[in-house]
Amino acid sequence: MMKNNIQMHAVATGVEPRAGVKNIIAVASGKGGVGKSTVSVNLALALQALGAQVGILDADIYGPSLPTLLNILEAPDSPDGKTLHPVMRLGLQAMSIGFLLQEKDTAMIWRGPMASTALQQLFNDCQWKDLDVLIIDLPPGTGDIQLTLAQKFPLTAAVIVTTPQDLALIDAQKAFRMFEKVSVPVLGVIENMSVHICSSCGHAEHIFGEGAAQKMHDAYGLPLLGKLPLALNIRQDCDQGEPTVAHSPGDVASLAFKTVAQNVLNALEKLPVYKTRKIPKIVVEK
Ligand SMILES: Nc1ncnc2c1ncn2[C@@H]1O[C@H](COP(=O)(O)OP(=O)(O)OP(=O)(O)O)[C@@H](O)[C@H]1O
Ligand SMILES: [Mg+2]
Repeated sequence: MMKNNIQMHAVATGVEPRAGVKNIIAVASGKGGVGKSTVSVNLALALQALGAQVGILDADIYGPSLPTLLNILEAPDSPDGKTLHPVMRLGLQAMSIGFLLQEKDTAMIWRGPMASTALQQLFNDCQWKDLDVLIIDLPPGTGDIQLTLAQKFPLTAAVIVTTPQDLALIDAQKAFRMFEKVSVPVLGVIENMSVHICSSCGHAEHIFGEGAAQKMHDAYGLPLLGKLPLALNIRQDCDQGEPTVAHSPGDVASLAFKTVAQNVLNALEKLPVYKTRKIPKIVVEK
């Protein structure tokens, strides 16, 4: 395990950093279903395997995934009736609106501003403890929730998940521009479902095409943080509540997630370090 020397990095002007959280990384995509939640939880576990203290916040108010991905059915503790303790699972501090619902299939029928307020409360009222990195799993799109998050949360940076398909790429570009507008640095692109290796014959097939990350690099200079395979066990492990990086740490998919995690840490290191504001010393002359 590497030595943990992850520093706290600067956040955008106008937002205050959150106590107990050094860095916040949003996982976004624009398009739905490209694997943000799958990547978020495995990336969180991979960062942890590299020695970081990690938390994960599910920002998908309408369709939370964390209860399933981490098999969390219990409600978080709230000793004072106001703040919430994150639920501990596989070493991660986790929080999701899904933990607060009585029934897993409850539909959240809220207008955008209500959902944005709920998300802010979930983040602010949670007692995150000594986190090097908090991963935020975003819902698809570039609407209310994403904008609230990008503007009001002390984000350190974002990463963008895309499949190699042009259809996903167009939305990934929109997500990139949204972060650019609100001055949140984008660390790079994660290409998910990059290649499928047939489990019986070993044949490699690019089901969703090729070269998306390269196109993002050519258009915006965004680095490729890694390519993840389209693999049966990634889907299965998530559905069973023990994501691949925890379930099979030596698996090729887990190694790919760890490469992404290392690249994320390397990119993070290049960002400006957070500096506490200096308070001028008042000298009283006698
Ligand atoms: N690399 C992968 N290999 C196999 N299956 C995957 C992979 N990535 C994601 N999946 C599967 O694809 C589906 C969509 O993934 P996921 O829910 O993570 O996407 P999402 O971008 O978070 O979706 P949403 O936009 O609805 O939040 C899930 O069934 C998931 O298990
Ligand atoms: Mg999701």
